[in-house]
Amino acid sequence: MCKNLLFLLLLCISVCSGAQTLLSPDGNLQMQFALTPTGVAQYSLTYKNKAVIKPSTLGIEMKDPTLSLLTGFALAGTKTNTVDEQWEPVWGEEKSIRNHYNELAITLHQASTDRDFVIRFRLFNDGLGFRYEFPEQKNMTYLVIKEEKTEFAMTGDHTAFWIPGDYDTQEYDYTTSKLSEIRPLMTKSITDNLSQTSFSPTGVQTSLLLKTADKLYINIHEAALINYACMHLNLDDKNMVFTSWLTPDARGDKGYIQAPSVSPWRTVTVSDDPRVLLASKMAYNLNEPSKIKETSWIKPTKYVGVWWEMITGKNTWSYTNELPTVVIGQTDFNKVKPNGTHGANTAEVKKYIDFAAKHGFDAVLVEGWNIGWEDWFGHSKDLVFDFVTPYPDFDVAGIHAYAQSKGIKMIMHHETSSSVRNYERHMDTAYKFMKANGYDAVKSGYVGGILPRGENHYDQWIVNHYQYALEKAAEYHIMVNAHEAVRPTGIARTWPNLIGNESARGTEYQAFGGSKPNHVTILPFTRLMGGPMDYTPGIFEMDISKINPSNHSHVNSTLANQLALYVTMYSPLQMAADLPENYDRFPDAFQFIKDVAVDWDQSIYLEAEPGEYITIARKAKGKNDWFLGSVNGETPRESKISLDFLDAGKKYKARIYADAKNAHYKTNPQAYVIKEIEVTKKTKLTQFCAPGGGYAISIRP
Ligand code: NOJ
Ligand code: CA
Repeated sequence: MCKNLLFLLLLCISVCSGAQTLLSPDGNLQMQFALTPTGVAQYSLTYKNKAVIKPSTLGIEMKDPTLSLLTGFALAGTKTNTVDEQWEPVWGEEKSIRNHYNELAITLHQASTDRDFVIRFRLFNDGLGFRYEFPEQKNMTYLVIKEEKTEFAMTGDHTAFWIPGDYDTQEYDYTTSKLSEIRPLMTKSITDNLSQTSFSPTGVQTSLLLKTADKLYINIHEAALINYACMHLNLDDKNMVFTSWLTPDARGDKGYIQAPSVSPWRTVTVSDDPRVLLASKMAYNLNEPSKIKETSWIKPTKYVGVWWEMITGKNTWSYTNELPTVVIGQTDFNKVKPNGTHGANTAEVKKYIDFAAKHGFDAVLVEGWNIGWEDWFGHSKDLVFDFVTPYPDFDVAGIHAYAQSKGIKMIMHHETSSSVRNYERHMDTAYKFMKANGYDAVKSGYVGGILPRGENHYDQWIVNHYQYALEKAAEYHIMVNAHEAVRPTGIARTWPNLIGNESARGTEYQAFGGSKPNHVTILPFTRLMGGPMDYTPGIFEMDISKINPSNHSHVNSTLANQLALYVTMYSPLQMAADLPENYDRFPDAFQFIKDVAVDWDQSIYLEAEPGEYITIARKAKGKNDWFLGSVNGETPRESKISLDFLDAGKKYKARIYADAKNAHYKTNPQAYVIKEIEVTKKTKLTQFCAPGGGYAISIRP
């Protein structure tokens, strides 16, 4: 009798609280869902019985408070599902990707508004994804978001690898600190450097990496950011609870929803082995399959470019120093005095085409080819570029013919200077111009404040623009590499013509003063979780004053570390960013960049510790060649790896490009040694890594 009563009581509690449990396929992760007595939705997450996310609130506050989806919910239904499938990406780290998860969709009914709201959870072996769904119904049509109120309640004062919650740039060095130190450090970083702004002294961006005292590695990010504002996180540093913070638009609104609709997925990737985070394909798995049916025109690409010479300040994007402004159609270039430092001139471009052809590259990027750079993010930027009018010293047709004769593709550059409406006005003409002149790929850029004024780089309006530019490019069979756009969220599964993004501090900052030597041991755990980065590695001359005497920047990396980046910073688009003459000085080291693949069948994560080191081996697509890369942070170390991933019974030739014993990113970056040895599946290697150093290995049968 007593037992029966207890059972009934428990049943009542679980029905009233809507308590639900979801397990990952391997049972290591457990998600609990429940409703509080006032009908607030909450979830929590454990990994191997350790708490990862403590009970955390879910919901969205609307501008019209009577329409908020925060409270008063009752459980109206649940649906479970299991998916286990393989899919083949157009390009990637793996030939085939497993998408394996258990799903729980919870329908909540809000009696006061007579509306249904769905929260869909997917639990993978490496993490949790969940999203909000707004079903089509009588009482839900238009919603204006005031703030999303998704919480991620931490279990303690974890170590975080963070960048400030800026609405307009992700181009920061990471700070590694306790959660409780974010506030004082952020305040200091704002006073030290005025460009570092955050909506709150505890506001940070995703993808955010956390490490707990008991060595759990947790990444918080989002997947499938489509028609929604980018999510940042605001930390309540008394209780260690993050709450979502959407990027506002010019009016301060955080999003416009028209049902039926869905939010992006909120993701929590977790493991006690950091290598699992590096290998995670959850972001892609939470995106839709490719919408591009015929993909043969999408090609992984290794390229060089007329670029580093401008970044270092040796040459200029602009043609003249004379005028404050150059206006397309009005400025008579016969009357304008050239500055003599314009990089994108036909002779210089042909030099790069020759270099690319000689060394087996696929393509050449040219920046500063089109009129407008004299005042490119100044006052008149609204109309400054039309993306089709070259400077008088850049021969579009001649360069096309020359590149074609050498088997080299040209990569177009569209710096929009964030004048988004101007870009959209010219986009069709610009893409047509590209195709007519032999360009199949565009590097776009969004430097400076967004026009229309008041919009932010990561709000819903411009997220929709990046998507529009990508889908329009697909219509023209154009690949896109967008710089300064919102950070990727796995969308490249659906639109594989998105072969690159910047959206983080790339190599260019090494010429703007320098980046921390361990930056590249953090990026794969953060920025790269959502997709590849056009990091532009391959710098051989670390003393920038040798290129431009007035630039005293130093590249905080050894030369061997630069080689390793081609493996550790996965991207189907890889640049050899340095000047050709610097490669000519180190032809033996350059050989690795020439040999390394840009598309892979398999990847093995050998060693990883964020902020310290990463070692990865990858097998080239359709070949038996392996390439290894290892990058190191500040502390010198010995990397110990086993080559047991090689085929049994086969002998291979390994060429090892490593830091010399006396190498150091600051004092002796060009000290490297190259040796060739025979290796087999049984080989174990111990390899020295200098501060800011590393090693690269090519292994061939
Ligand atoms: C910033 C980009 O990151 C860089 O690659 C580009 O050269 C400049 N903007 C100019 O567009
Ligand atoms: Ca940039």
